[in-house]
Amino acid sequence: MELTYIKDLPKHEGGKVTLHGWIANKRSSGKVAFLVLRDGSGFVQCVVEVTTAGEENLERAKRLTLESAISITGTVRKDDNQEGGYELQATDVHIYSIADENYPIGKKEHGVDFLMNNRHLWLRSKRQWAIMKIRNCALYAIHRFFQERDFVQMDSPILTGNACEGTTTLFDTQFYKEDQVAYLSQSGQLYAEATAMAMGKVYTFGPTFRAEKSLTPRHLSEFWMIEPEMAFYDLEMDMNLIEDFVRYVVSEVYEKCRTELETLERNLTLFEAIKQPFPRITYDDAVLIIKGKKEVNGKNAIVQLEADLAAVHATIAEKNAALAEYEEKLQAKGLKKGEINHFQNKVDTLKNELKKLEDDARNIPQWIASASNFVPGDDFGASDEKAITRLFDVPVFVYKWPSPIKAFYMKRYEDDDNYVKGVDLLAPEGFGEIVGGSQREDDIEKLLERIKEHDLPLEAFEWYLDLRRFGSVPHAGFGLGFERLVMWMTGVSHIRETIPFPRYYGRLFP
Ligand code: 4AD
Repeated sequence: MELTYIKDLPKHEGGKVTLHGWIANKRSSGKVAFLVLRDGSGFVQCVVEVTTAGEENLERAKRLTLESAISITGTVRKDDNQEGGYELQATDVHIYSIADENYPIGKKEHGVDFLMNNRHLWLRSKRQWAIMKIRNCALYAIHRFFQERDFVQMDSPILTGNACEGTTTLFDTQFYKEDQVAYLSQSGQLYAEATAMAMGKVYTFGPTFRAEKSLTPRHLSEFWMIEPEMAFYDLEMDMNLIEDFVRYVVSEVYEKCRTELETLERNLTLFEAIKQPFPRITYDDAVLIIKGKKEVNGKNAIVQLEADLAAVHATIAEKNAALAEYEEKLQAKGLKKGEINHFQNKVDTLKNELKKLEDDARNIPQWIASASNFVPGDDFGASDEKAITRLFDVPVFVYKWPSPIKAFYMKRYEDDDNYVKGVDLLAPEGFGEIVGGSQREDDIEKLLERIKEHDLPLEAFEWYLDLRRFGSVPHAGFGLGFERLVMWMTGVSHIRETIPFPRYYGRLFP
């Protein structure tokens, strides 16, 4: 049997098809039932009328609960008022299984913990479905981008014997020998470097782990990273590649996932602006911008944040007024059940929105203080990245970082030892870092010095030093946090929604 999917309904206009899926929504009255069916490829309304489907099928349709699984046969009708532009006029309903009543996830607002505990079911909701479709589209685009440019995909090991990104965020496991600790990989970079010396241009795309106990909206303890590594590339070539790559993936998602972006109500400015060149600024200039001492196209970071704060206060006042209105409506006598549900939903939604806005109202003054008082030489915090990226519509490169705050493998400038040839790409609209990359140190003596300075165990890096002993060449690469990219493109406020089963401190189930 060949299955027909909802996304292909346009090909079957006027014809008869059988769809297989789950009930995402239902209403019925008298001689008709309206079922919203989802099958993973899309959503469609199916009309089950006694005149076309008969009493028995209508009775079956009426028995269906949310998430019941069915197959349904009918005629495909064009209807521009319907989602997807099509509707199914049903002639036959077959039941695979009737779902228990009280499906835990309803239309009303749920708390985050509740949703995360029910992640296995939450994934079926339309917003989550749209996010996963975008994730998949981006994943395919990433492979296409590199494969079309003759990069060789390589898989870095997940169990490793040495650290790549500092020793403070290592997950350790005692498995091999009594005195030998295995770590979960923080990055596939060092192995990508080795493979680049064999294959020229490579990329690894795998799970990476950071044991950080901090809970932020942008950190996972397990995330996926795309890490290309290229022999004979310098920092500028690295930045050119990052720019082409990010533009390619974002453009593909814009082209192929318009419906999903609409479902998420994503502001599309980002996608329209992506063709413009990404500005490249040095760390020192970025610091001046963050502190409000240098303007970008007439815009000042601190003034911009102050304007954001004023806008948040104005929205809070508006939402509070709306909340008071709906709370009053709820008090009215003789309301119908539907009206009570509707008003209660509005109240819940507004309360949730207000909670987020009040967080912003509390946070922005702290961001302003932290940006104004930023100490040159420090790494950027989320608030500093926010200050700078609020000024741009496109991602911005910050390069030439102070040596002490960057990883041991980054190459220092020949004329200034205080800076490394490292680069971060910060996504606009206040989002922040999505890429970290650099030209690598290719001089064995300097690399040895760095390993000592960073207090790393020399023995564990012997194999890595071999890459400098045998045919060392300039080379560069970068790492893009896949969930950060999906988060930015989908516009969701927390990274946990960008991966099917997120892992962050405290979350191991489901
Ligand atoms: O800047 P990072 O730590 O760089 C590296 O790991 C390099 N070895 C990459 C390379 O040059 N091959 O991490 C790179 C990116 C960050 O820009 C961010 O997007 C993402 O990985 N990232 C995280 N994403 C989610 N949760 C976390 N805890 C993350 N830590 C880093």
